[in-house]
Order: sequence, then structure tokens, then C-alpha cells
Amino acid sequence: MKINEIKAGINEIKVENKSRNNKGDGMIELINGTIAKNGKKIVESVDFKVKRGEITLLFGSNGSGKSTVLHAIMGVLGLTSGEILMDGENITHLPVHERFLRGITLAPEKMRVAPNLTVEENLLIGGSDVSKVYSLFPNLKKLRKQRASTLSGGERQMVVFGRALLTNPKYLLLDEPFQGLQKEAGDKILEIIEKLKKENVGVTVISHERTEELIEIADKFYIMTAGRITYEARIESVEGAIEKLGEYMLV
Ligand SMILES: Nc1ncnc2c1ncn2[C@@H]1O[C@H](COP(=O)(O)OP(=O)(O)OP(=O)(O)O)[C@@H](O)[C@H]1O
Ligand SMILES: [Mg+2]
Repeated sequence: MKINEIKAGINEIKVENKSRNNKGDGMIELINGTIAKNGKKIVESVDFKVKRGEITLLFGSNGSGKSTVLHAIMGVLGLTSGEILMDGENITHLPVHERFLRGITLAPEKMRVAPNLTVEENLLIGGSDVSKVYSLFPNLKKLRKQRASTLSGGERQMVVFGRALLTNPKYLLLDEPFQGLQKEAGDKILEIIEKLKKENVGVTVISHERTEELIEIADKFYIMTAGRITYEARIESVEGAIEKLGEYMLV
């Protein structure tokens, strides 16, 4: 075999290995997604991408369809048309638990916890290393035996976030993670979001709060208006992104 042929062969092997290694370049893609509820289209022809190792923000006014997009990615809600790919695999028809096993976790809005379980039992749904959450939110340790139904909104929010964190997601979908939280707890969540990005997690955040700080650490943002993506851009400057949100009356 000639030396050039050997070299070509080696290159081919390298290319093949690179394409199998999804460490750096994993991605979830919602392609041309439409979702109707009770016959009414509430999300229409949406293209939305999240990459591992990046923070993606989804903005839009109330009722524009943001949570619905995350529900569709998690599989809580089926697409009426369109498809969803995860790291190149078509997951459009996979049930929630299959998507969860592949590494997608949704921390839902409105502080959804299991009300009859204790704080600790709620956290254990996510994973066994509950001490990790207690060191993040020391208050929760004091409340560990308390039923979640007795918690304040902010405390429930910590449980929702902590539980999601314990699942060690590849893709974390955070829907209004700062709702009801005191500044200090919110600061910790911001820190964790940034840390997760460094650990190659793809983090998606919907938030009406801490917008500027989120933009500072994020890579990309989308704006939804009445069920459609009306703007998307990589974040080049914080000022530029905030100005754009202002044009859409979102700040
Ligand atoms: N079960 C349902 N049947 C009909 N319409 C629904 C249903 N659930 C939600 N909607 C509508 O779908 C639209 C999108 O809702 P969604 O919760 O995705 O918006 P959002 O952008 O997350 O809003 P918010 O900022 O208030 O959380 C809203 O207009 C809402 O009224
Ligand atoms: Mg919502």
C-alpha cells in the first residue's frame, strides 16, 4: 500500500471518530414544529436549536408559547407536525421517560413539586446525592422532612431546581427558574447555570427575571411572538440583545 493511501485511511478513521464523539457538538433541534391544542395552533412552524455547552434563552410575552416549546422537547406534549432530533436521532415519537433516559430534563414552571412527598423525597426523584442540593440551598436541609405542600413558592422553586440538577442532564430546560426566589438563591442558580455550561450541558432558560445577567452568560437568544419565533441571534453584545428585547417590548 502506498504511503498516501495509508495517510488517507488514517484521515478517514479520524473523521469517523470525530462524528461519533458527541461530547462537544450535541444538539437538540425542533424543526418546523407546530402544536395545536383543542384545534387551535398555539405554536407554529418553530425552528429552535439548543447546543450542548451553550446557554440558550427563550423570550416572549405571556402566552406566546415558550413553555409549550419546552413541553414539546421534553415530550410532555406531542407535535402536531414537525420533528425533534437529539444528537441526530429522531426522538419525535419517543415518550417522556425515553427522552429523560437520553439526558433531557425539564424543570417546569409554577414550582411543580409532588405536594404529598417531603422535600427530601421530592429531591430523591431526581437522584440520590441530595447533599449537593442542601449545600446549594441550606434552607432546604432544615425543611427536608416537611411535606412539599407546606413550602413557600420560593422553597418549592428550589426543590424543582435541585431535583432537576440531581438528574445530571445533558440538556436542562429551565422554565422560569427564578420565580418566587430571593436574590441570594437566584444568584446561586445563575452560578450553577454557568457552571453547567462549562460542564458541556446544554441549558435552555425561559425567564422574565434576571434577564440582563442571563444575557451576560448566554450564547444565543430567541424571541417568540404569538406562537412563532420572530427573532433569533447569537449574543454578540449584552446591550444589543437588550435593545432588541426593548423593540419587542419585553424589557
Ligand atoms: N390546554 C390548552 N388549551 C388551549 N390553549 C392553551 C392550553 N394551554 C395553553 N394554552 C394557550 O397556549 C398559549 C401558549 O401558552 P404557553 O404556556 O406556552 O405560553 P408562555 O409563553 O409560556 O407564557 P407565560 O410567559 O405566561 O408562561 C397561550 O395562549 C395559552 O393560553
Ligand atoms: Mg410559560
